[in-house]
Amino acid sequence: MQPCDYKPLDPKVRNAPYPYYQVLREQAPVHYVEQVKAYALSRYEDVHAALKNPAVFSSSREHFTKSNALIDLSKLGEEVKRMVDSSVLVSTDPPQHTRLRSLVSRAFSARRMADMEPRIRALTRRLLEALPRQGEFELLEALSVPLPITVIAEMLGVEPERHHDFRRWSNDVVNAGTRMITRPGPFPEVEASLREFRLYLEGVIAERRVEPRDDLITALVRSSEEEEGLLSAEELMSFVRLLLIAGNETTTNLLGNGLITLVKNPEQLARLREKPELVPNAVEEMLRYDSPAQGLFRFSLQDMEFSGQKVPARSMVLLLLGSANRDPRRFTEPERFDVGREQTGHISFGYGIHFCLGAALSRLEMRVVLEELVPRLKHLDFASDQPEEVEWVDNAFLRGPRRLRLAVELA
Ligand code: HEM
Repeated sequence: MQPCDYKPLDPKVRNAPYPYYQVLREQAPVHYVEQVKAYALSRYEDVHAALKNPAVFSSSREHFTKSNALIDLSKLGEEVKRMVDSSVLVSTDPPQHTRLRSLVSRAFSARRMADMEPRIRALTRRLLEALPRQGEFELLEALSVPLPITVIAEMLGVEPERHHDFRRWSNDVVNAGTRMITRPGPFPEVEASLREFRLYLEGVIAERRVEPRDDLITALVRSSEEEEGLLSAEELMSFVRLLLIAGNETTTNLLGNGLITLVKNPEQLARLREKPELVPNAVEEMLRYDSPAQGLFRFSLQDMEFSGQKVPARSMVLLLLGSANRDPRRFTEPERFDVGREQTGHISFGYGIHFCLGAALSRLEMRVVLEELVPRLKHLDFASDQPEEVEWVDNAFLRGPRRLRLAVELA
């Protein structure tokens, strides 16, 4: 295998990226990936250093679009263009980012998260109750989609019953993100779905302006009204959309990847059963071992050097989180899944100013699921009709099973 074999948009690479990362780390720690027109960094130290330096590695959507390096806005349909134009927080740099982040981070404080635990536990128990005592089920349908989407919908104050719509819209937004890069051009079916999503959220926001409630959308509406110019109506909508998507796809993937890893490592599942106090550690190890977010993009504003090789100014940079988390320079025996691992410092939630806002929430959801599920598990395996090769979501930088059929025996 050669560094040039790393083609992140090819299903072969997407399905099993780790051997490619190893080649990149060893042979080409700075590698230009033609398929996504970006310099890929694959070593922990380099990815970490880039994340720590937002003054040079910009997240601003303007660079991504104006440079036409990755996305050619002129080729996109109206709704997709509108979405890219109004995206907030994750695609802004300081000082805009700093102001927005301080506004929204209150909603995700450690105290708020702790307050949510009983509700998350009750939802988890209800979903687990519906599983067969002894039999087979599909994880996404039964647990890993409804749990995070219900939690974030309740937080925002949108109707959890519409979770099928949120899921569809959210998938379409994520797909639009990939297609902008891979097959630029208008995509009418996604346009219709994005319009539906936008109109729905605009309706909810308008309702909260007139009739405030005790929910996150009302809080955001209120602070944007108090501090004029902070969030335009379009940006407010865009932020709510970001939360609905971020609060959904990634945690679903963490739950899926975590359970796949446990099935493949039964001795680690046995350890967890014996020592439930290892659960929080196991969550961190699941994040490190098979991260739901495999890569992030930045735009370099000046020439920089990593591992002795140059990343030129004004280029797209791909930070391979999934590779950094398996760098043997940072983690002992990184290919081993070990629920008792003491080394911390994975970067699955990113690092620095854009560190994932929902990290505490998704950790909490994963921990509660393991706390509720593991003690009841007499047996966990792939279902008889689950293909040996897991079918992964069709996305180069988000990793999780598209479907996962499991067999259980519960106490
Ligand atoms: C396992 C689950 C999750 C993973 C792996 C994950 C991963 C990430 C990563 C890697 C970033 C950094 C992006 C960057 O630096 O460009 C990020 C940012 C973000 N995440 Fe998450 N995320 C998860 C769950 C969530 C949840 C549940 C929410 C919301 C409820 C959320 C909301 C956000 C937001 C708003 C940002 C942008 C923060 C900023 O730019 O300041 N994430 N996430």
